[in-house]
Amino acid sequence: MKETILETKRLSRRFGSLTAVDEISFVVRRGDVFGLIGPNGAGKTTTIKMLTTLLPPTGGTAIVAGWDVVHHPANVRRTIGYVPQLLSADGSLTGYENLLLFAKLYDLPAGEREDRIHNAIEFMGLSDAKDKLVRTYSGGMIRRLEIAQAVLHNPPVLFLDEPTVGLDPIARQSVWKQVEALAHNGTTIILTTHYMEEAENLCSRIAIMYRGKFVANGSPAELKRSVPKGFSIGGNGSTLDDVFAFYSGGTLESEGGYRETSRVRRTARRLG
Ligand SMILES: Nc1ncnc2c1ncn2[C@@H]1O[C@H](COP(=O)(O)OP(=O)(O)O)[C@@H](O)[C@H]1O
Ligand SMILES: [Mg+2]
Repeated sequence: MKETILETKRLSRRFGSLTAVDEISFVVRRGDVFGLIGPNGAGKTTTIKMLTTLLPPTGGTAIVAGWDVVHHPANVRRTIGYVPQLLSADGSLTGYENLLLFAKLYDLPAGEREDRIHNAIEFMGLSDAKDKLVRTYSGGMIRRLEIAQAVLHNPPVLFLDEPTVGLDPIARQSVWKQVEALAHNGTTIILTTHYMEEAENLCSRIAIMYRGKFVANGSPAELKRSVPKGFSIGGNGSTLDDVFAFYSGGTLESEGGYRETSRVRRTARRLG
């Protein structure tokens, strides 16, 4: 069994009377691509923010790479990379300049910076665009740059919050490829998405989140097997959409506006 790299126990977050994350307990093992999936408002971002030390839990515990997020936040931050749901690259700088900024932020030794930046640019397929202003980049290029920023310090654990939201199918593919390559190199990845097919293709483990709770957790195959035969929205055998419908008692279309949200976000411009 692979080593545990992240573990939560009854991790919770309340905002006033709303319980956004409700006693979730789960384990991520080294090398996993762990997908948190669920409709808008399910609590995915709140979970990621607690695991990245940006938001204190109101209950329970979370350990990342051996460090408790509440008691040793600086140690946690040193071992993780994080790409937030909202834009984290500066449109008025070039790709190279953005990376240099992050290299300084992460305190990479000056003698190593150029090499690391160069490697990150190559790895993310941005060599031709590195000296162009980021505001001229496509959505997929921006996302790849943001991922490059987040892994400059070679973190063993990478958090990606909705890495492909707002991207067209080709750009989404290009981001998937990078995520797969990072996973292949041994990075443990925790990502959120509300695209079921993306989760199915990318993730070794999936947790389905609904109203702050994990309603299902397992490998894509395990999740699909757990749904009774004959329970299928499309009638073509179990899909992850069926898994979601089965465990949440509804379809993704009802409540939470899953399809609506993904459609709206697709058309939203990420750079203002
Ligand atoms: N800072 C906050 N203050 C109050 N409510 C919040 C805050 N952040 C998130 N929420 C609420 O918590 C719930 C979960 O939000 P979020 O974690 O962003 O969901 P997701 O990422 O799955 O779309 C939502 O109902 C949201 O409105
Ligand atoms: Mg979110």
